[in-house]
Amino acid sequence: MMDSSLLTSLFTLSLSLSFFLFLFNLIRSTARSKGRLPPGNVGLPFLGETLQLISAYKTDNPEPFIDDRVSKYGTVFTTHVFGEPTVFSADPDTNRFILQNEGRLFESSYPGSISNLLGRHSLLLMRGSLHKRMHSLTMSFGNWAIIRDHLLEDIDRLVRLNMDAWTGRVLLMEEAKKITFQLTVKQLMSFDPCEWTENLMKEYMLVIEGFFTIPLPIFSTTYRRAIQARQKVAEALSLVVLERRRDVERGERKNDMLAALLDDEGGGGGFSDEEIVDFMLALLVAGYETTSTTMTLAVKFLTETPRALAQLKEEHDEIRARKAETEALQWEDYKSMPFTQCVINETLRIANIIGGVFRRAMTDVTIKDGYTIPKGWKVFASLRAVHMNQDHFKEARAFNPWRWQNNSGTSSTTNMFTPFGGGPRRCPGAELARVELSVFLHRLVTQFSWEPAESDKLVFFPTTRTQKRYPILVQRLK
Ligand code: HEM
Repeated sequence: MMDSSLLTSLFTLSLSLSFFLFLFNLIRSTARSKGRLPPGNVGLPFLGETLQLISAYKTDNPEPFIDDRVSKYGTVFTTHVFGEPTVFSADPDTNRFILQNEGRLFESSYPGSISNLLGRHSLLLMRGSLHKRMHSLTMSFGNWAIIRDHLLEDIDRLVRLNMDAWTGRVLLMEEAKKITFQLTVKQLMSFDPCEWTENLMKEYMLVIEGFFTIPLPIFSTTYRRAIQARQKVAEALSLVVLERRRDVERGERKNDMLAALLDDEGGGGGFSDEEIVDFMLALLVAGYETTSTTMTLAVKFLTETPRALAQLKEEHDEIRARKAETEALQWEDYKSMPFTQCVINETLRIANIIGGVFRRAMTDVTIKDGYTIPKGWKVFASLRAVHMNQDHFKEARAFNPWRWQNNSGTSSTTNMFTPFGGGPRRCPGAELARVELSVFLHRLVTQFSWEPAESDKLVFFPTTRTQKRYPILVQRLK
């Protein structure tokens, strides 16, 4: 006689198989009625190929997940990840097509758990004309003229302030996060680091943790805690907005993002407090993890490539030699860091902080080779797959900043290097991130020598990061 647990297992299995067949037939019939789906495999019932994807991205070599499927099915294939059938693109032209057709054929699509944490008025979730308006407002506050005339000075000052406290063992990822958080708060609402910003950061870090609690957020304490922390952050930001509305009534105007959101002069005006708070919170999210991780990984790659570190140091020592030790960096200094830009490009290419972007097809869309993405289907445009493709980047897995020295770094120029995405949702913080990274590297290599405190490994799930937050032992120069 079979024991009851075996019976239950068999029952579950047969139920799962029926569901799988149902799903399989559904996908096939969708494909038949509406055109040819890209080839692929939807994997196990419910889970699809999620487990394979997660286990690949938990290592320092996630490439086989994509490479295996590309060699079997081609650069655009069908899979099933995070609960939905998904068309996956590792093709630069298809990626470009997807990104450029934002709002026409595709729209951004984040899972519900993330949307709740971001807030429904965040730029990342906005669509249509409101998105256009808010995107250009964000751009206008992160453009090079604003950075040159206002933000660069703050960036340099805050980077130095933080580094002044460094001694002995430093958890680089934590330090980089502190710096980028303080910079974003300054850019958004002009606050310098103080007890209030410290407390805000503590709550905010709980919110961030909630982003990475896939796949069952409703059962997770981390997620529940994140929702509560979001509420506290939103309350704190609401008070700031209230205070600033009063300042505006008194005719006072600061030069920051919040001011632009509050008045017509800055292209804003007419937004509710809730809209403004969601917007600010999403900006904190978008700029913080991304830039701080890139800072940390640039240092890791440089440490492992001493020749590149030496060349970078030479570039920055030359700049410092023209200035007094504590003199602030100017825009011309930033513009005379060509090798630094090569290091930043190469870090962005190899680390791929945002590995790709999720979209949803708004209608049946015909793509490359006559395949059809059915209306409502999830699409993942993998930026990483293109950046790590040996056909586009010679010895793609090697950290080689020199590849950017004489040309665009690629064998062919168009669509190959897109660390900041593209089209109407292209990252409005791209230039700001580059400046923050450059200043950070400048102050680091001119003030410190360092070595890794212990060996640390790069992983790509749930986000790109090193397992131990990259501990280093620093020594002040001179
Ligand atoms: C190395 C650092 C950064 C990387 C790699 C990066 C990458 C990206 C990418 C790939 C997108 C496109 C997402 C999509 O199409 O769905 C994006 C969007 C965005 N980024 Fe960045 N980003 C960085 C830094 C920043 C910074 C410093 C800010 C702060 C101003 C920022 C603000 C945003 C915002 C607000 C969006 C949403 C744009 C929209 O949906 O219209 N990012 N970023």
